[in-house]
Amino acid sequence: MSKFRTEKVTWVQHYTDKLFSFRTTRDPSFRFENGQFAMIGLMVEGKPLLRAYSMVSANHEDFLEFYSIKVPNGPLTSRLQHLKVGDDLVVGNKPTGTLVLDSLENGPRLWLLSTGTGLAAFLSILKDPNLYEKFDKVILVHGCREVAELTYEDFITRELPEHEFLGELAREKLLYYPTVTREPFRNQGRITDLIDTHKLEADLGFPPITPANDRFMLCGSEAMLRDLKKMLEDRQFKEGSLEDPGQFVVEKAFAER
Ligand code: A2P
Repeated sequence: MSKFRTEKVTWVQHYTDKLFSFRTTRDPSFRFENGQFAMIGLMVEGKPLLRAYSMVSANHEDFLEFYSIKVPNGPLTSRLQHLKVGDDLVVGNKPTGTLVLDSLENGPRLWLLSTGTGLAAFLSILKDPNLYEKFDKVILVHGCREVAELTYEDFITRELPEHEFLGELAREKLLYYPTVTREPFRNQGRITDLIDTHKLEADLGFPPITPANDRFMLCGSEAMLRDLKKMLEDRQFKEGSLEDPGQFVVEKAFAER
């Protein structure tokens, strides 16, 4: 059996000169857990050129959606940014990843901490009804340099709360905390600093985080993950896996360097 399949691009949206999203058809036999990633890409000189991308779409949706940066000389993204409706996209057959709800112990609060395109995996998770079964409150934090990079704000603050099936749960349980570091905005500062000073919890009306009450999923740049993982471990949080669920899980945002 082939290791990948070919899907057709059905939608493309550019947000800034560095960020865009696209959708493709989805073969119904392509199965995944919300929060996972797959290898996707293009045929270049007869060979597949693939990179890891988290699915933005949820596993109950009949299309695939991905969120990407554009790296000027990136082997894949310099080509991918020119995708048009009707083009082919190669999609690997083996989705995988650590950002899955079953790797976390139950607890009252789940914090989804992302920077940049690390947001992608959490968009899939936000559409998972199990998320709202498992946690009383879910807080999505998205840290970016500039306001224009706070993409999907409309989906998070308008579309999801009005969703036919998930809307009521999202309205009751989901909080959104966008934060910007390089221009004025209502929330400012790096996620690490916001946690260090307890400003994040204070702004949202929660007590300081503890391993008893708080769970974390982290997705962002390597530096952000390294710093946040250390902060959580210093505070006695335990990393979880499917075999041994814990209080946080980590995945890097897949981007070309
Ligand atoms: P900053 O502007 O202070 O560098 P990038 O585009 O470089 O991936 O950054 C996305 C966001 O992540 C930016 O707001 C950036 O803040 C922030 N960031 C970068 N490094 C870290 C880190 N080690 N911990 C937390 N946030 C970080």
